[in-house]
Amino acid sequence: MVHIKEEATRCLLCENAPCTKACKTGDPARAIRAIRFDNAKNAWRWIGDCSEADLQRAEQACIHYDRPIRIASLMSGLTLTGQAHQPEAFNPSCLNIDFCGIPCENPFFLASSAVCTNYEMVARAFDMGWGGVFYKTICKQDINEVSPRFDAVKDGTAFAGFRNMEQLSENPYEEDFDILRRLKQNYPSKVVVASIMGQFEEEWIELAKMAEEAGCDAVELNFSCPQMRLAGMGSDVGQNAEMVAIYTIHVKRNVKIPVIPKMTPNITQINKPAMAAYFAGADAISAINTIKSVTMSPDSAVSGKLTVSGYSGRAVKPVALRYVYEMTSNTIMQNVQFSGIGGIETWRDALEFIQLGCRNVQVCTAVMEYGYRIIDDLVEGMQTYMAERNIGHLEELVGEQLPNFVLPSDLDRSTKVYPKIDRERCIGCGRCYISCQDGGHQAIVFDAETRQPRIVGTKCVGCHLCRLVCPTQAIGKTKRVKIADRGNQ
Ligand SMILES: Cc1cc2nc3c(=O)[nH]c(=O)nc-3n(C[C@H](O)[C@H](O)[C@H](O)COP(=O)(O)O)c2cc1C
Repeated sequence: MVHIKEEATRCLLCENAPCTKACKTGDPARAIRAIRFDNAKNAWRWIGDCSEADLQRAEQACIHYDRPIRIASLMSGLTLTGQAHQPEAFNPSCLNIDFCGIPCENPFFLASSAVCTNYEMVARAFDMGWGGVFYKTICKQDINEVSPRFDAVKDGTAFAGFRNMEQLSENPYEEDFDILRRLKQNYPSKVVVASIMGQFEEEWIELAKMAEEAGCDAVELNFSCPQMRLAGMGSDVGQNAEMVAIYTIHVKRNVKIPVIPKMTPNITQINKPAMAAYFAGADAISAINTIKSVTMSPDSAVSGKLTVSGYSGRAVKPVALRYVYEMTSNTIMQNVQFSGIGGIETWRDALEFIQLGCRNVQVCTAVMEYGYRIIDDLVEGMQTYMAERNIGHLEELVGEQLPNFVLPSDLDRSTKVYPKIDRERCIGCGRCYISCQDGGHQAIVFDAETRQPRIVGTKCVGCHLCRLVCPTQAIGKTKRVKIADRGNQ
């Protein structure tokens, strides 16, 4: 059977996809996108009516660098995985949520960055369904960017992590506020947040007032850009609780719209600046900005010189979640709201931030890589998940996972879950054996003749490294048992 997610991940996600043009009856490109972005339950809507011949034609039209995507097999993959039907009808308004008193049609916002630097970009994103924008950070400095300014750690053709050296908006600040004014006038139901960065108190106040005058719904304070040319700006501020407090208080005193300081992850205890912002009156806190990093590929160098700069994308999500958790679980900050950022690509990623207490999420790198269109699967995927769980309002998911957190000392250490090999799925590659030998407890024996792995129960500690490396999901789990109740498999 074709592994549908893996096959969809090979897809180049072409513009004006030739497969869809060739297919005529359905939209295979859209179905592949749904599978790729964890929304396979909605894929059938796009190819369910296609005949075998339609899909064969689509497959023949596939642009590829090694071999075409097996589009016809995706259909059988959906059937075999029980996803060959229309998903449950969902309530279109279930994603409505209030953030800082602002009604949002959905929680999915563009993060202040390269994805929202002019009117046309944001208007297009709004037309495609994004709920709001944290517009590219506006400042009064002359921003002179380097070239090249991006680099990526790749996983196949995709970005595992993304490194950038970009600073703030290059537009004159008056022009940016005019863009925000027009956006709010023309898209009154969308949420427009101005991200600002001042150099001194007066500048922070001036920019915040201009954001309010432009009709922005809120203002985000960028205390977190890690690669500013000038010292005392960006993450230099975010690492200093006193400066966070001072600038937040000044902005709060001068505007009525909600104020949202954006935190840096380049600090050990994020709660120090976060609480400073909270006590200074912040209405919400957003996190994270990029993580200071070094990449050494030729793309990292500017005229032969290297520098430290920000890392984002899929790789940073667990780090972002940890910082978000540190803040949302802090009982002192119960009256502040949170916007989660860092490595969000699919609705499941967004859900994780929401379940940790965020009412809003922001996306940058995934949009840079795949375009605004990822909003389709963010929205549909989340709506489908909520329909399946019979959840009527997104609000019900906010903070849902927080009660499940305990200290490492309070984790259950008296029982174990063991790996279990499904012989039908095992293809005998031996990867489980290699990893268990060299990174585990030498608890798998591998028969070189039959190519069958076998778990030695007396040696297995239930670490599950074998399950994680298995390429065919042939290793499952037993029931949780007392440590003694174990035999060979
Ligand atoms: C190219 C680029 C430009 C960015 N510019 C800004 C900016 O102007 N202001 C800001 O607050 N954050 C900026 N960021 C950080 C993002 O808003 C976001 O916090 C970070 O990239 C993590 O989210 P992601 O993993 O979805 O990209 C930028 C990020 C990138 C990659």
